[in-house]
Amino acid sequence: MRTDTSPTIYRKDYTPPAYWVRTVEMGFDLEPSATRVATRMTLERNRAGRDRTLTLYGEELELVQIRLNGKALGKNAYALKDGVLRIADAPERVTLEIETLLRPDRNTSLMGLYVSNGNFFTQCEAEGFRKITYFPDRPDVMATYKVMLRADKKKYPVLLSNGNLIEQGDLGDGRHYALWEDPFKKPSYLFALVAGQLVCQEEKIKLKSGREALLQVWVEEGNLDKTQHAMDSLINSIRWDEERFGLELDLDRFMIVAVGDFNMGAMENKGLNIFNTKFVLANPRIATDVDYGNIEAVVGHEYFHNWTGNRVTCRDWFQLSLKEGLTVFRDQEFSADMIGTDSGRAVKRIDDVRVLRQAQFPEDAGPMAHPVRPDSFVEISNFYTVTIYEKGAEVVRMYQTLLGRDGFRKGMDLYFERHDGQAVECDDFRAAMADANGRDLTQFERWYSQAGTPRVVASVAHDAAARTYAITLQQSCPSTPGQKTKQPFHIPVAVGLLGQDGKDLPLKLRGSDLQGTTVVLELTEAQQTFVFDGVADLPVPSLLRNFSAPVVLEYDYRDDELAFLMAHDSDPFNRWEAGQRLALRRLLALTAAVRAGGGMAVDPALGESLRLTLTDDALDPAFREIALTLPSETVIAEQMDVIDPQAIHQARRFLRHALAQALRADLVDAYRNNQTPGAYSPDAVSAGKRALKNLALSYIGELDDAAAHALAQTQCDGADNMTDRFAALAALANGSAPGRAAALARFYQDFEDEPLVIDKWFSLQASARTTDVAAVRKLMQHPAFSLKNPNRARSLIFSFCNGNPSQFHAADGSGYDFWAEQVIALDALNPQVAARLARSLDRWRKYAPALRDRMRSALERVAAAPALSKDTKEVVGKSLA
Ligand code: PHE
Ligand code: ZN
Repeated sequence: MRTDTSPTIYRKDYTPPAYWVRTVEMGFDLEPSATRVATRMTLERNRAGRDRTLTLYGEELELVQIRLNGKALGKNAYALKDGVLRIADAPERVTLEIETLLRPDRNTSLMGLYVSNGNFFTQCEAEGFRKITYFPDRPDVMATYKVMLRADKKKYPVLLSNGNLIEQGDLGDGRHYALWEDPFKKPSYLFALVAGQLVCQEEKIKLKSGREALLQVWVEEGNLDKTQHAMDSLINSIRWDEERFGLELDLDRFMIVAVGDFNMGAMENKGLNIFNTKFVLANPRIATDVDYGNIEAVVGHEYFHNWTGNRVTCRDWFQLSLKEGLTVFRDQEFSADMIGTDSGRAVKRIDDVRVLRQAQFPEDAGPMAHPVRPDSFVEISNFYTVTIYEKGAEVVRMYQTLLGRDGFRKGMDLYFERHDGQAVECDDFRAAMADANGRDLTQFERWYSQAGTPRVVASVAHDAAARTYAITLQQSCPSTPGQKTKQPFHIPVAVGLLGQDGKDLPLKLRGSDLQGTTVVLELTEAQQTFVFDGVADLPVPSLLRNFSAPVVLEYDYRDDELAFLMAHDSDPFNRWEAGQRLALRRLLALTAAVRAGGGMAVDPALGESLRLTLTDDALDPAFREIALTLPSETVIAEQMDVIDPQAIHQARRFLRHALAQALRADLVDAYRNNQTPGAYSPDAVSAGKRALKNLALSYIGELDDAAAHALAQTQCDGADNMTDRFAALAALANGSAPGRAAALARFYQDFEDEPLVIDKWFSLQASARTTDVAAVRKLMQHPAFSLKNPNRARSLIFSFCNGNPSQFHAADGSGYDFWAEQVIALDALNPQVAARLARSLDRWRKYAPALRDRMRSALERVAAAPALSKDTKEVVGKSLA
């Protein structure tokens, strides 16, 4: 039990290691209740320093013995305290042999070596290797690994680790072994092993250079019919990185393994990626179009890490976004290129921005706000955040916006030329981008050092006589914890001007030779004015096209200007954005009306604008679907000074219902015209049609009448794929159709043996309108529920606490009591998952006093719980601070 408070680690305190590790040899005798790990490593003192203390980290290990240069070390030869083992005055060259004993069967944290459904898996990022052996477990220490695995042959027929299989054979007495060698040096967080009963789909491909590589996707036997999409995605990823960045797979063998118990999405261990089953397994029966897209993105993401993360890694964990922001950017670009069309790319862009606004903007405005390159942390696991990942990707995207695609590629080439095989900093990436393009990107550094979402306020002045149009941009950034005032950012603001005919004007920016109909203004001061010449008639400005920077852009558009942009903007992102701005305005007004106790009234203009979009057959169905999706309750909440979850919920429901009434005939047409007959295919065109059809179904469902029920029921009964079946079930679950209960029961029966589908079943009910705390508690009693499996816990508990705001924020505080109980229960099993759930109350200070006080009590209750992990302690501590 931990009684002291855990220390805060600061970026400024970084010092290079006193010793480098050159080689690591490990032997594992795998046994669930007692796994023996023998490690032999060679170390060399770092000549750049004078420190002679060898520092190793270890957690929850039984240390059997430790030998230095052949001699066993007695208890006095080293100091072991709080998970740090120090050997003072070590010689220049050291061979260290360490034997540890582990209990993987009792490991519910899912960090280090653990057992899932009878098989062995590891997870070492960020600091899990220290749960396997004592080691200088820090990313700037890179070594080559040779790994011997020994285990019972019947129970664990498959033995995998990083790199190449050198040798395998029998040991007699029913045991066997496999010896693996990874030719590339790597930090310990990229180590992995897998052992158990698994089967694989494999394929050999020829790489660009002509070399051959073996690709494998490993799963449990019953899942071999669900690996094809992951394999296709892997091959597409390999091809894409060869084409777009000239980066080739550097291994002869590349493996993906699926595991049902996993804290995160997936892990990029060198040559042996380990995936949450959610991001591997798919066939039309169990996976939706969204699942197919996510699998492609995550397979790409992990594969792209092989260069951005593994070949070039992070010096320390403060640099996490160096690999994560860059790799998310790469997977976003990959997914966009896989769709191929301009409008498909735009839909992907809009999806990514939606995630940013829904999750990252609130984080950046809350108690856990941190820079893309944090200055401090207590527990690094808490910093695998939307800021590091998604905002980090936006920061990388801005280089491309500023330097152009070719300039960005030059920067990437220089980055690898300089740093291949090294552990580096975010600053090194920025320097490569700057130097390769002869650009000064000094000010750009503030995107890494300053937290908070910048606000850019635009104002315009048209001088008809002088034919000039001036845009003035003013930037500011709110305070965040530890950062009261902010310096101006270097912000690329892409703009266009629409003439009165709705067409783009050719732009002449004064003092610049930029040409075209979109120009990127570089805002670097607190306030700057940009003048366009030759603008005779008053245009409508299209600002921040394609969301060229992760900022909030404010401009006082009139409603009719927004409708005009919705109908005409050549930039699809801003076409969508105009509709969102209009809808958000209405939703905020309706929310205010609910709060004032007045009646809600609909605005026919919004309905008409949406009708034009819905019925415009020149627009991709996928685009029409996102354009007709209203801002979420979370996004609306972020716009309010005091959040009123009930009023927001009522307002949004009212608007959806009103739109369904006004557009009913067109929705029915959209439903009929976007059927996808024939065999299911997850391609973007078919998926877009299904998305629009199912959006129509969900609007029609708002009417909750017999015709709506029949439509959903028929689709639910007849669907031959999960996308359609689940959409129909959702429509039933959110209404009062007589077949609701039966449909849910039947869905459960049909998919009882498919854990990923049962997750959907829990999740759908957790976020359904009528599901209150009592109903969630009842679902927790279901035999299929388990707190130990992260996917299952997320499907029910997280879906309720984060995805059902009006029920979670029940006036009596019962949602918060439930939340506190679950955080505490989860914390005893799995601190990382608990700490994520702990973040559901991040925004508590923004609620009305009655709710706020109840949330504070719940936070205090968790903070006071005995033996709380440092993960959860950091989160609730920062919330209450
Ligand atoms: N590095 C993984 C990724 O982004 C995420 C991860 C972090 C997985 C920590 C497990 C543990 O791809
Ligand atoms: Zn990643």
